[in-house]
Amino acid sequence: MREHRLHLASPDDAASLGARIAAQLEAGDAVLLEGDLGAGKTTLARAVIAALTGETDAPSPTYTLVQSYETDTGFGLLHADLYRLEDTGELGELGLDEALDHGAALIEWPDRLGAWRPADRLDIHLEETRDGGRDVRLTAHGSWETRLDALA
Ligand SMILES: Nc1ncnc2c1ncn2[C@@H]1O[C@H](COP(=O)(O)OP(=O)(O)OP(=O)(O)O)[C@@H](O)[C@H]1O
Ligand SMILES: [Mg+2]
Repeated sequence: MREHRLHLASPDDAASLGARIAAQLEAGDAVLLEGDLGAGKTTLARAVIAALTGETDAPSPTYTLVQSYETDTGFGLLHADLYRLEDTGELGELGLDEALDHGAALIEWPDRLGAWRPADRLDIHLEETRDGGRDVRLTAHGSWETRLDALA
């Protein structure tokens, strides 16, 4: 496990971090986005989706819980928002494991996942700061450890 911290002063900074993550993203990867309401999870997920699919106005999967994309290079990209997940029994229906078999997954509110934690994953913790920006803690697990420096 390796960790790196950075500060995002604006949504533009979030967009460039999203692009750096997108450039490193491979099939089998999970990116777990943690932080309070309004912390900037969807903003960052949208930036990754935009960089990989050209979709610049991705909907937040608030009610559908999951939204699937195909990247320009041909792997699947699942965006999940688990805030409204009622119980972990529903998790199987969301197809997270299947998504990682041939693609990547961006998952907001991963605390709803119970014990499900893929080995190759990037945990991103976002927190609003007094200047209106965001402090970010990136924690790299498995194969993400060697890619963490490219996100700094
Ligand atoms: N790095 C940033 N700097 C400044 N403002 C930001 C940053 N990232 C996001 N924001 C702003 O914060 C607000 C909330 O962002 P966002 O919807 O991405 O949060 P969220 O974590 O997905 O919230 P929720 O849990 O409610 O879905 C938006 O108005 C967004 O523009
Ligand atoms: Mg959100």
